Amino acid sequence: MYTLERWTGRVALITGASSGIGRAVAKKLAEAGMRIAICSRRKEQLEQLVNQLDIDPTSVLVLPVDLRFPKEIKEVFNQVNAIWGGVDVLVNNAGVGYKTPVYQGNLDLWREMVDVNILALCHCTYEAMTNMRKREDNGHIILISSLGAYRHKPGSIGNGMYVATKRAVRSLTESIRMELRSLGSNIRISAISPGLVETEFAERFLQNAEAASDLYQKTQTLNPSDIAEIVGFILSCPQHVQPHDVIVRPTRQLS
Ligand SMILES: NC(=O)c1ccc[n+]([C@@H]2O[C@H](COP(=O)([O-])OP(=O)(O)OC[C@H]3O[C@@H](n4cnc5c(N)ncnc54)[C@H](OP(=O)(O)O)[C@@H]3O)[C@@H](O)[C@H]2O)c1
Repeated sequence: MYTLERWTGRVALITGASSGIGRAVAKKLAEAGMRIAICSRRKEQLEQLVNQLDIDPTSVLVLPVDLRFPKEIKEVFNQVNAIWGGVDVLVNNAGVGYKTPVYQGNLDLWREMVDVNILALCHCTYEAMTNMRKREDNGHIILISSLGAYRHKPGSIGNGMYVATKRAVRSLTESIRMELRSLGSNIRISAISPGLVETEFAERFLQNAEAASDLYQKTQTLNPSDIAEIVGFILSCPQHVQPHDVIVRPTRQLS
């Protein structure tokens, strides 16, 4: 049976840990005995998570970061490397989506999605893999993508830029995997592409709390903990097994 045992005491950095999927993943990995570095902009939310976790406070690093800024990303990795020696598991979870049709020309929203969902994901991956390769060279990088990377939901207008960023994540999963093989590295990379998960995402996406709560009420959703369990499964796989991309929908989701 696969277990998470070999990760006990090792270090996981989770981006976007202040809410939703990232928060559930942080909880799962802390409960599995990993040391966790949790990142996002909202420091209070991260501290609240620490208070909820029944773990040794020395096993957690709270690292506020705005992933739109490369200097802040670099600083986060410098801190983890200085305090704990590096990252063994990187969960590139932080992501942002806005319903913003191209015909509206909102460059600021397009830029934020590209900066967080693609550029920061690549930057964090670069920082983590550089450190991993100097040490055991057997870490794991997990990318939270989206079902949108595989299909364009019929009738959904205005999500083109968000979906484009997740298609980029799908493509990066494969290209980084091949880079690692070309380097002869043992580092693994896996993606998870979820359908609808009930989090704070829809409120940001729709810019409307009521519409978001309406959506979640009338549709079956996945829970953040469902995705955290899949992260746990991926990490539990032995070294010769590399899940590539786990596509997961709520059972009743049609598209
Ligand atoms: N919910 C879904 O239905 C769904 C489906 C498929 C894929 N996904 C993907 O799942 C991932 C997690 O989303 P979620 O559903 O858990 O949504 P969420 O609850 O809105 O969480 C998003 C996280 O990203 C962080 N974040 C956003 N912008 C950031 C920035 N500039 N700097 C640092 N952190 C930032 C947020 O933290 P702060 O605001 O505190 O910075 C938050 O912790 C995303 O990549 C999303 O695309 C979600």
